[in-house]
Amino acid sequence: MKVLVVGANGQLGARCCAVLVEAGHDVRGSVREPARGEALRAVGVETVVADLTDTASIRVAATGAELAILSANAVVPRAGDRPAVVEEGLRRAPAVLAGQGVRRIVLPSVPVTDVDEAVPFTRARRRLENDLAGLRVETVCVRFPPFMDVHLALVGSSIPLRGAQNATVDRPSPFLRSFRNGTGTLVESRGLMLVPGPRSHRNAFITVTDAARAVVEAATRDEVEGLPHATLEVAGPQPLSWDDVAATYGRLLGRRVRVLSTPAVVYAAAQKVLRPFAEVPSNTMALNRYGASSETAWTNVGGGLLDPASMTTVEEFLREKVRLPAA
Ligand SMILES: NC(=O)c1ccc[n+]([C@@H]2O[C@H](COP(=O)([O-])OP(=O)(O)OC[C@H]3O[C@@H](n4cnc5c(N)ncnc54)[C@H](OP(=O)(O)O)[C@@H]3O)[C@@H](O)[C@H]2O)c1
Repeated sequence: MKVLVVGANGQLGARCCAVLVEAGHDVRGSVREPARGEALRAVGVETVVADLTDTASIRVAATGAELAILSANAVVPRAGDRPAVVEEGLRRAPAVLAGQGVRRIVLPSVPVTDVDEAVPFTRARRRLENDLAGLRVETVCVRFPPFMDVHLALVGSSIPLRGAQNATVDRPSPFLRSFRNGTGTLVESRGLMLVPGPRSHRNAFITVTDAARAVVEAATRDEVEGLPHATLEVAGPQPLSWDDVAATYGRLLGRRVRVLSTPAVVYAAAQKVLRPFAEVPSNTMALNRYGASSETAWTNVGGGLLDPASMTTVEEFLREKVRLPAA
């Protein structure tokens, strides 16, 4: 099948391309600059230059595609990106894809929480999910818990980044880079883990590879429960608290790892203070607020898309990473 991945240079987008190629599909990936498509072309992906803020480019990218995965997002924007403008483009994209003959659109998404409306990214995501349910083509929203590759690094570790390709945490975002400069290896060097919200909050963490496998299943399976407009939640293999994650890091590093938590109210205040003059830092605080307010203690491992026994646990993920050389 001919599948378009919008946002093929992202961590999830690139893994989706790789899983699709391995399964023998004809894969087209959108990139924003031709030079940034080299690694994708090397593994057999056809690249096309497209930007969500340029509807005509999305129309061209979709020509001939049967299925589309909408993975592009402005959560960790490059310098000069305007997240609100990207969200508007993302919102226009599904109708454009449908107009070009795409028959199923898959949106990787995030869980519903009480603070969704207060967080620009999740507010936009809920509108987008809603729009998808009104389209005449098939749509699947696949909601995921936090990705291990991303969130087990953001707590202050470089271990999840070992051997990672297209890492979200390594994106050229000035704000993220300055945050990582101060906190990037706190877990391994100081035995300190920084977490959003209560340390007892539990999440069914999932690897990017398992998430990509689930997205590809949602795109390519004939039958998906809930079609023509399905919404699925895909849990990772174990719901773990932040304390559990710290204990896992501690076991693997042979040292005690303490947890330092920041309450949602602190992020909410920072979001508000920064909003008038610093959109990206304010949005990042809003996302931390979302993370601090939510739990995904889900037990529906694999969400009906993946065999639970085939999924990677936090311990397996970190154990494998610890074996790799530090970057
Ligand atoms: N991280 C998590 O824990 C988590 C949990 C649940 C669900 N999700 C979902 O998983 C997805 C994450 O995808 P990811 O890992 O691939 O993200 P990512 O690593 O942050 O990459 C973002 C991608 O979006 C592209 N992009 C940004 N602005 C664009 C624009 N204006 N036009 C076209 N492309 C643009 C980027 O292109 P450039 O490289 O050119 O900048 C990049 O390819 C999201 O849909 C998110 O909602 C994530």
